[in-house]
Amino acid sequence: MLSARGLTKKFGGVVVAQDLDLDLELGRVVALIGPNGAGKTTLFNMLTGFVRPDGGTISFDGRRIENMPAHQRARVGIARTWQRPRLFESLTLLDNVMVSERDYLGESIGNLIFRHGEVERAEDDARDRALGFLDRVGLAARADSLSTRLSYGQQKLVGLARALMNDGRCILLDEPMAGVEGRTIETMKAVVRAEAEAGKAICIVEHNIGFIRDICDSAVFMFNGRIVASGSIDDLLADKRLGALYFGSHA
Ligand SMILES: Nc1ncnc2c1ncn2[C@@H]1O[C@H](COP(=O)(O)OP(=O)(O)OP(=O)(O)O)[C@@H](O)[C@H]1O
Ligand SMILES: [Mg+2]
Repeated sequence: MLSARGLTKKFGGVVVAQDLDLDLELGRVVALIGPNGAGKTTLFNMLTGFVRPDGGTISFDGRRIENMPAHQRARVGIARTWQRPRLFESLTLLDNVMVSERDYLGESIGNLIFRHGEVERAEDDARDRALGFLDRVGLAARADSLSTRLSYGQQKLVGLARALMNDGRCILLDEPMAGVEGRTIETMKAVVRAEAEAGKAICIVEHNIGFIRDICDSAVFMFNGRIVASGSIDDLLADKRLGALYFGSHA
């Protein structure tokens, strides 16, 4: 579904991504693991168009996308969440989810004027769908609250609902479990698992090993901007060399 080849990125003189290859398939969940600063988020940013690679190619559904701007990549169906929730603080939860509707008719001023009825119906439909996704993350009752009134974990669930609203076939989750506590943990797990079972192509950056074991089919290990290993979760977890890279040489 998504295939990256040779992605490379330097910030200043520092290489933060070196010749990265990644393949995501429908119905498969890949864990992207590695210590802080390895380049995991940078890889997501290159896949979603927020960082322009210095070299390499990205194909999605048979189409080259490395030069596509971020909003178009969302439109073709690559959804993501952020390591920190990044919600719009002045918008309600419902509006925070509705903004990621793809191909929304009301984005065109011409449609607003000449196809007003259709735009209104599309908006009603989007509102219903957004409410449905808030319901899936257990926050439908708070749909009209501001995101600033939520716990950090709940904000991450809204971010997840927003990614689901995109309804694309590929989802990239950047540390979905970090900062998530209490009941929110089970909700997060259940929703991500359901998306995997629904056949999406999913990649998850995560430090929570239990979550990775539970949900992911395979893993890729990044260190210092490079992919240094890939394979089954168990093989990677059993690899002492990777453990030393993850925890530092004292481990
Ligand atoms: N916009 C930027 N400008 C300069 N350097 C950056 C930028 N974004 C990331 N970096 C650097 O690139 C390296 C990789 O960062 P990145 O955020 O991709 O790591 P990560 O694996 O996601 O780490 P973490 O687990 O802490 O989230 C780091 O050294 C970081 O400081
Ligand atoms: Mg990161």
